[in-house]
Amino acid sequence: MKIKNICCIGAGYVGGPTMSIIAQKNPKIKVHVVDMNTNKIAAWNSENLENLPVYEPGLSKVVKEARGRNLFFSTDVNKHIDEADMIFISVNTPTKTTGEGKGYAADLKYVEACAKQIAKVSKSNKIIVEKSTVPVRTSEKIKQILRLNNTDVDFQILSNPEFLAEGTAMRDLEIPDRVLIGGDDTIKGQKAVNSLVKIYSSWVPKENILTTNLWSSELSKLTANAFLAQRISSINSLSELCEKTGADIEEVSKAIGMDLRIGSSFLKTSVGFGGSCFQKDILNLVYIARSEGLEKVANYWEQVLIINEHQRDRISKKIIDLIRKEKLEPKILLLGWAFKKNTNDTRESAAIYVTNNLLNKNIGIDVYDPKVKQSQVDFDLSNINADYDKSLVNFIEEPFLNVSEYNIIAIMTEWDEFKDYNWEKIYKKINNPSYIFDGRNILEIEKIKKIGFNYIGLGRN
Ligand SMILES: NC(=O)c1ccc[n+]([C@@H]2O[C@H](COP(=O)([O-])OP(=O)(O)OC[C@H]3O[C@@H](n4cnc5c(N)ncnc54)[C@H](O)[C@@H]3O)[C@@H](O)[C@H]2O)c1
Repeated sequence: MKIKNICCIGAGYVGGPTMSIIAQKNPKIKVHVVDMNTNKIAAWNSENLENLPVYEPGLSKVVKEARGRNLFFSTDVNKHIDEADMIFISVNTPTKTTGEGKGYAADLKYVEACAKQIAKVSKSNKIIVEKSTVPVRTSEKIKQILRLNNTDVDFQILSNPEFLAEGTAMRDLEIPDRVLIGGDDTIKGQKAVNSLVKIYSSWVPKENILTTNLWSSELSKLTANAFLAQRISSINSLSELCEKTGADIEEVSKAIGMDLRIGSSFLKTSVGFGGSCFQKDILNLVYIARSEGLEKVANYWEQVLIINEHQRDRISKKIIDLIRKEKLEPKILLLGWAFKKNTNDTRESAAIYVTNNLLNKNIGIDVYDPKVKQSQVDFDLSNINADYDKSLVNFIEEPFLNVSEYNIIAIMTEWDEFKDYNWEKIYKKINNPSYIFDGRNILEIEKIKKIGFNYIGLGRN
C-alpha cells in the first residue's frame, strides 16, 4: 500500500518528535498528529516555537520546516483517523493503579480506547502501528478489538517501538541505531511491513531497519529499557561500595567501560534514573514474568528498581543527617528538577523523591531548573503527597538570588549550565560551612574543594 496520509494518535514526547521527523523526511506524505488534549495541540501550533510542549534540542527547527507543509497538529481525532492509510498509536501506557496487576502491569486503557475509536471511524483499509511501549502480545488484543468492532475493512497491525531517549530525541530519530518493525508472517502482513520500511528508508539505511515477528518486536522494547536501567542500577550500587572502600566510581566506570565487551555508555552514576519509561517498563516485565510463573526472573529484574529507590533514599539520608549533625539551617537549594538534562520532562525524576524525603523532615527546598515550570514542580509533589507542605517549597527563577540563606546546594540534574557557574563567586556569598551534594558527579572535585566548599559526590571522596 502506498502511504499518502499518516495519522498519529498522541502528541506527547514520542508522537510529536517522531512524526516531525517522519514528515520532514517524507514531504509527500501528509502527517496529522492528533491528541484529545486541546492545550497540548494549541502549544504544538503556537507561533512562538519556544512554547512547544516538548523541549528537545533541534525539535523546533524541524517543526518550523514541516509544520503547515505536510505536518499538522489537530484535536479532530476522528477526521484524521478516517483519512489515514496508516495510524500510529503513540499514547501513554502508564503502570496500572487499580485492578488486576495494580502497581506492575501496563495500563492499556488508552491503547484500547484508540483501537475502539479506529474501528468505529474507519471506512477504508488501514495499517495500525503500535508505537507505544506495550506488553508482549498486545497486538493480538488490538486485532481482536478491531475485528470485533469493524468487519468491513482490513486492518494490519505492526509493532514499531520507539527507542529515542529524551534529551537526544532528534539525534536518535535522525540517526537511529536501528528501527524495529514487527509484523505478521502473512502476505498482507509483510506488505504492511514493507510500507513502513519504505517510510523509514527515506533517511535510515536499509541495514539498520530490522524486521521481526510481532512478539519479538514488542518484547525487545521492554527488554532494551530493562537492560539500560540495569546498567544504571549496577553502577549506582557500586557507587555506595566505592564510598566504603575508597575506590573512585568514575575510575571504576572508565576502567570497566573500556572493555569492549561491556562498553562505556550508561555507566554514569547518579542520584537514580527517572523518566516515564524505565520504571514502568521494568514493572511491566516483572509482572509478565510473574504471570508466567517465573518468580526468580521477576525478582531478578525487580532488583533494578529496588537499587534505584535505595540510591535516592541514601542520598536524601545523607543530606538529612548532615543538617542534623552540623545543626545547619533546614533549607537547601536544589538545582535541577527534570529527570535528565536537555528535556523538560520530570516524570519519575529523582528530584521529586529526594524532595519528598526532605520535606518529610521539614527541610525547606528552593528549586531551580532552566526548563521546568513552577506548576510542574507543584504537580509532581502533589502527585506523590497530596498534603505536602507548600510553605516549605519555593520555586526560583534565578538560582543564586538568596544564596546567603543556604549551607547546602544539591545538584539533581546534569544541566551543563551547573558546571559552568562561577562557583568562586557563589562561595563568597553562601553560608558557611557550605556543602555541595553533587548527585550527578558533574563538578570538578578538586576545583570545588579548593574554593572552600565541602564536596559530597557519589562513589568518590
Ligand atoms: N517518553 C519517552 O522517552 C518514550 C520513549 C520510547 C517510548 N515511549 C513510549 O511511548 C508511549 C508514549 O509516551 P509519551 O512519553 O509520548 O507519552 P505522553 O504522555 O507524553 O503522550 C501521550 C499523549 O497521548 C494522548 N492520548 C492518550 N489517549 C488518547 C486518545 N484516546 N486520543 C487522543 N490522544 C490520546 C495524551 O493526551 C498525551 O498527550 C508510551 O507507551 C511510552 O512508554 C516513550
